[in-house]
Amino acid sequence: MPTDARPVSVLDFEAWKGQGRKITSLTAYDYPTARALDAAGVDCLLVGDSLGTAVQGRDTTLGVTLDQMIYHAEMVARAARRAFVVCDLPFLSYQASRPQAIRSAGRILKETGSKAVKVEGGVRMAATIRAVVDAQIPVMAHVGLTPQSVRRFGGFKVQRQAEAIRADARAVAEAGAFAVVLECVPAELAATITAEIPIPTIGIGAGAGCDGQVLVLHDMLGLLDDFRPRFARRYAELGDAVRDAAARFNADVRSGDFPAESESFR
Ligand code: KIV
Repeated sequence: MPTDARPVSVLDFEAWKGQGRKITSLTAYDYPTARALDAAGVDCLLVGDSLGTAVQGRDTTLGVTLDQMIYHAEMVARAARRAFVVCDLPFLSYQASRPQAIRSAGRILKETGSKAVKVEGGVRMAATIRAVVDAQIPVMAHVGLTPQSVRRFGGFKVQRQAEAIRADARAVAEAGAFAVVLECVPAELAATITAEIPIPTIGIGAGAGCDGQVLVLHDMLGLLDDFRPRFARRYAELGDAVRDAAARFNADVRSGDFPAESESFR
């Protein structure tokens, strides 16, 4: 349980960078899970558009809509007492224009209770990030492997263009982002960026030198047996636990063992 139950604010991210205090973040998509993560003291709940792959069973995040993100973020934000809730802006909810980005980000804050939005892209998105921040909406940026660019990258690949990624991280910090996710970049590069920029870096597949770490919940809980990213440590095998519980339920119903007398209304 967290020792400090005060709700996390955007100011804490800046303070934690200064103190060298590691930031923890997990994705969340629903109320009961978000409650458990919040109670465990996770600093930041990310309603990621990994919703598309982790929850909806899609191959990419491209099909996720703004309305779907809002539906899930609202449940997560209702559960969070201490954790800071960030909601992804999904594909094509911000790329078309700055007014579109402000409207989409504004809907997320107004309709869900999230405290910030996340935007993929570095140099090419810096002006958009600036516009959203100027509208008083905190932005977490996301550079390196940005899953919404999967078609342009030609797949989900480690990003190794060191100078371009450093420029991206600097650009989003200058544009006013309060933190930046570094996804699938070499550990040395992530550590260099972390030392170079004034905002916290939250790594995923980016080594131990970042200011914090984020994982997709379904990866760390072992919920999907056909997807096992190399960088995601499994803290549980819930896929096996669910299969085992369902198989026992099947067997109990078919054998007449469930429901027992005491488990029925009279
Ligand atoms: O959508 C998501 O869950 C994310 C994390 C992988 C950082 O962007």
